[in-house]
Amino acid sequence: MPKLISILKRAADFIQQRLADRQQAGNYRTLKPENTLIDFCSNDYLGFARSPQLKQKIAEEIGAYPENHNGSAGSRLLAGNLQYTEQLEASIAGYHEAEAGLLFNSGYDANIGLFSSLPQRGDTIILDELAHASIIDGARLSNANRYTFKHNDLQSLADKLKAAKGSIYIGIESIYSMDGDSSPIAEILDLADSYNAAVIVDEAHAIGLYKTGLVQQFGLHNRVFARVITFGKALGCHGAVVLGSDNLRNYLINFARAFIYTTAASFHQVASVKTAYIFLRDADEAISTLKSNIALFKSTIDKHEDFPLIESESAIQCIILKSNEKAKLIASTLQQKGIDVRPILSPTVQQGSERIRICLHAYSTPDEILLLTETLNKFLHER
Ligand SMILES: Cc1ncc(COP(=O)(O)O)c(C=O)c1O
Repeated sequence: MPKLISILKRAADFIQQRLADRQQAGNYRTLKPENTLIDFCSNDYLGFARSPQLKQKIAEEIGAYPENHNGSAGSRLLAGNLQYTEQLEASIAGYHEAEAGLLFNSGYDANIGLFSSLPQRGDTIILDELAHASIIDGARLSNANRYTFKHNDLQSLADKLKAAKGSIYIGIESIYSMDGDSSPIAEILDLADSYNAAVIVDEAHAIGLYKTGLVQQFGLHNRVFARVITFGKALGCHGAVVLGSDNLRNYLINFARAFIYTTAASFHQVASVKTAYIFLRDADEAISTLKSNIALFKSTIDKHEDFPLIESESAIQCIILKSNEKAKLIASTLQQKGIDVRPILSPTVQQGSERIRICLHAYSTPDEILLLTETLNKFLHER
């Protein structure tokens, strides 16, 4: 066989084998079309993504700038920058009481850009073991030493800090995406101060339930080195901002490859973010309904020793099923009842911690929540 054909065959065999292994392990991923089930799985916590009012206002905002093009047609450093975007960055930074903000095309890009460009060879990145894949991937792309500490465990973090060299960066989430619990940010900052470490907080799942994020809610924004706010969840659109000092912004413009080497977001995307922030300022009623919905879920779900509910005050509530099969079975039982909840399987989460992840929303009705908890309670009692 000619050499090229044999290499192609090897690649094709590799792909087939990896897919077969996944199928065998019961965690083969497929894309599902949209459905009309009751939504307990999207990150649209405040209903912005589905809001006809927001859609209308975005259309009006876009219409108010007929001179702006459809596509940005270049990186922000080339043809893709708009004064509109820079004004929005300044206004978002003001809203979050930060010196400056820099938009990225997604939260994934923001974490990749930040964590890959800032820590250098000889420096140390210490991440909570449950940090999002985008934080881990960003850290992997840096040349720094990398450690993880046990989830929310200050002693474990202190142990890692003792061994750290160079400039130290600690990466955490304020609300964890897969567990829904919050991080002890103030205690982590105290510990970080004693080692002169910079703390970076991803607020992807805090923004919304907390109007400006959890860091600011606790008055800790002047103590964190940087915050990442994503727009794809409660803000109902797409993109992210890194908040920090003016110098951090300038540094990222110069060194973050995920910012430099990509086409800037379209005007449509930036206009959506601007409009969503106007809605967020007025979202008190939606936030209060979301809080009551979380309370209703927590008060009607039975505690089950074998299938624990992770302690969480947020819109993300998880029941640990401990196997891919059980997680898939409970999700399909709920789907048969008209409820959209997705199983979270290993390897997305650690083996043994497979779960269903329930997202509550401002638009969930009490009847829908009761149908969810009744179905869950019945299922779990029968196991
Ligand atoms: C904690 C966290 N950070 C970052 C991201 C990535 O954000 P985006 O979806 O905007 O790329 C996510 C999304 O799943 C997330 O949960």
